[in-house]
Amino acid sequence: MTTQNPGRVPPIEDWNRLLEGRVAVVTGGGDGIGGAISRLFAAHGALVEIAEIDPGRAERTVADIRAAGGRARAHVVDVRRSEDVDTLRAAVLAEHGAADVLVNNVGDYRPIVRFADSSPESWNEMYELNFLHAVRVTHAFLTSMIANGGGSIVNIHSVEGMRGYPGDPVYGAMKAALSHFTTCLAAGYGRKGIRVNGIGPDLIQTPQVDYLADADGDAGDLWEAWAPVGRLGWPTDPARVALFLASDMASFVTGHNIPVDGGTLTGGGWFYSPTARRFVNRPRAL
Ligand SMILES: NC(=O)c1ccc[n+]([C@@H]2O[C@H](COP(=O)([O-])OP(=O)(O)OC[C@H]3O[C@@H](n4cnc5c(N)ncnc54)[C@H](O)[C@@H]3O)[C@@H](O)[C@H]2O)c1
Repeated sequence: MTTQNPGRVPPIEDWNRLLEGRVAVVTGGGDGIGGAISRLFAAHGALVEIAEIDPGRAERTVADIRAAGGRARAHVVDVRRSEDVDTLRAAVLAEHGAADVLVNNVGDYRPIVRFADSSPESWNEMYELNFLHAVRVTHAFLTSMIANGGGSIVNIHSVEGMRGYPGDPVYGAMKAALSHFTTCLAAGYGRKGIRVNGIGPDLIQTPQVDYLADADGDAGDLWEAWAPVGRLGWPTDPARVALFLASDMASFVTGHNIPVDGGTLTGGGWFYSPTARRFVNRPRAL
């Protein structure tokens, strides 16, 4: 089924199951943001092909989806390995002929290596984990998507690719690379029925970014000072945006990178002081 040019735009009230009959490949789809995307896509009628390095996470998410009446399969895949991606591609194409939706979600900021202490090995790790796999997996599915009439690709990168990230400039640069890959691919393949968009998350509570397990626990009221929306984010927050971008709801949207960050990108420079109860742009609230 094509996700592009549906011929007739159905009335919006029919769009209760936004991915009915679609096949969606989700990398890192067993937990965190990818896990929420897998569950939400399945709830909207997609058959979800979960490409996940951790077999336990993959099986748990597939079991949850099936228990809720949805359809999913687990593939134990390390997206950094081209042999694994070849096997994934063969399994998906043998079953369905093509994927309608691809979510490139794998990525990690760890281990944090300060740039002065970094090495060609650590640069390469960041490259493979945060950029190269998305190119590889996209390449693996693109031709069959085009032959099938179109598709939607959603790349999960980071708000750190959209602003200056002091922690690790190599990580930030790899996320920026994925964001720009998104833009360029969209420009090149729109006429072939392919839409490509990206999501830059921040502040999402996941196994990787476990805010609630921090030494000081849930920062509670302090979130009001930290994020313009005044709260921590949940994996369902970016998952909802991914659903929109993957579905025909976004049929005229391509080449965009959307921060799903509770407003941290837009709020930079001005801070809300919970004590002064107003915005400040200097270290001490006056
Ligand atoms: N959580 C946040 O606030 C946040 C912020 C910025 C960017 N991101 C980005 O969002 C994406 C998801 O992040 P998350 O916080 O949900 O991460 P997570 O580590 O909690 O979940 C990632 C999932 O991918 C799987 N995975 C890891 N390496 C893999 C590989 N090589 N092959 C296949 N599967 C693999 C993991 O087992 C896990 O299930 C990442 O690209 C991350 O960089 C997240």
